[in-house]
Amino acid sequence: MPAAEFVVVANRLPVDRIIGPGGEEEWRTSPGGLVAALEPMMRHAHGAWVGWPGQAGLELEPLEINGIDLIPIALSAEEIADYYEGFANDTIWPLYHDVIAPPQYHREWWDAYVRVNRRFAEAAAAAAAPEGTVWVHDYQLQLVPQMVRELRPDVTIGYFHHIPFPAHGLYAQLPWRDQVLTGLLGADVIGFQRAQDATYFLQAVRRRLKYEVKGSAVTVPDGDGGSRTAVARAFPISIDTAPYLELAARPEVQARAAEIRASLGNPSKILLGVDRLDYTKGIRHRIKAYGELLEDGRLDVEDVTFVQVASPSRERVDAYVHLRDEIELAVGRINGDHDTMGHTAIRYLHQGYPREEMVALYLAADVMLVTALRDGMNLVAKEYVATRADNRGVLVLSEFTGAADELRQAVRVNPHDIAGLKDAIMTAVEMPGAEQSKRMRSLRRRVLENDVDAWSSSFLAALAEVRGR
Ligand code: G6P
Repeated sequence: MPAAEFVVVANRLPVDRIIGPGGEEEWRTSPGGLVAALEPMMRHAHGAWVGWPGQAGLELEPLEINGIDLIPIALSAEEIADYYEGFANDTIWPLYHDVIAPPQYHREWWDAYVRVNRRFAEAAAAAAAPEGTVWVHDYQLQLVPQMVRELRPDVTIGYFHHIPFPAHGLYAQLPWRDQVLTGLLGADVIGFQRAQDATYFLQAVRRRLKYEVKGSAVTVPDGDGGSRTAVARAFPISIDTAPYLELAARPEVQARAAEIRASLGNPSKILLGVDRLDYTKGIRHRIKAYGELLEDGRLDVEDVTFVQVASPSRERVDAYVHLRDEIELAVGRINGDHDTMGHTAIRYLHQGYPREEMVALYLAADVMLVTALRDGMNLVAKEYVATRADNRGVLVLSEFTGAADELRQAVRVNPHDIAGLKDAIMTAVEMPGAEQSKRMRSLRRRVLENDVDAWSSSFLAALAEVRGR
């Protein structure tokens, strides 16, 4: 395989495995925003993507899809348990989301994390062309930037952190806190979702490693008496808006939205939640607030239905198993108390859906509830806004999401404040059409102007600038 000018390194490869009618295997690119943003550039510059194909023990040969070289990294069942379910999703994930669930610290998980990060770094270093660019993504791979630098000092290295970075008082819990900072500082540019995340990272660097920090620039000693500059700042990510606009305009998708409303008994208002089933998303808080509104008689199941799509996620991690039990107990209780023969209080769907069905749901939803307790960005909020070409619909948005920095015209909530959340839901349900339009117009302007292309261009421009210094 020829050397790649541009190498993306992410935990997951952007592919889905499809088994054909005769049992034959086929790989298709999955339609994520990141792939869409990078695909044109990767084809132009000869790109490669290093990632895990998502299954234990699967040893795949590199393959090319749509002009991009895919370089699969195999993980054994034990590595999935220790590196992915363990260190990434039961240590870093809860710690970086403000300890909503208790992080577990295990030395054998850390050892697996180092080992697997090295495997990704070696694959990236082998794939990159001389003086090429390597762009590493997210918390599963925080050690990769420095590992790539050691192997390939000639390449430019970017890192983007898709989830929050915690305040120093929490970050300091991590037994391997200095190693992780050093790993990240191997990059020339370290991108975060919010300005606050970058500030916390820079504070940790100053306090733990005692490196000089001026504004967003860190002076990183190279060990030989010299130094280089790494820049850490915010680049809020967004969505590829085009497919959402296109689907929302399609008559059959609009017809499907009407069909969804009819199948729910034509309520006057549909409330919607769409999340991975994750304890960071505030699904329990949302259900509690809604249940109390029915209990108080402020909402009536004959008029209002709440649809909660909770797609299965990380199902072998204990905290996720418990969360599912709690949510399903709460949904069952509320439905048992309030359902009528023709109307349901909460239509709960523990399933994932294709994008077309999601857009139909967004079009059917009068109120979108995004009540995360902590969220790096929350792209569901942006997807909802993008589809609302009629300028109708209300977004209720937690102030603890990255999206809250940009989507100022949403109804803002603190999801921990159940009384406030109940009032916010009522404000959204009762909001007059003219006010909905005023707010939605301004939200849409923001999302359509700052799409994922703008995001990747600004990150890569920053990378070129730092490297050119
Ligand atoms: C978040 C993370 C991603 C991750 C995704 C799905 O958005 O930032 O890195 O891929 O969740 O989680 P999973 O564990 O299924 O990859």
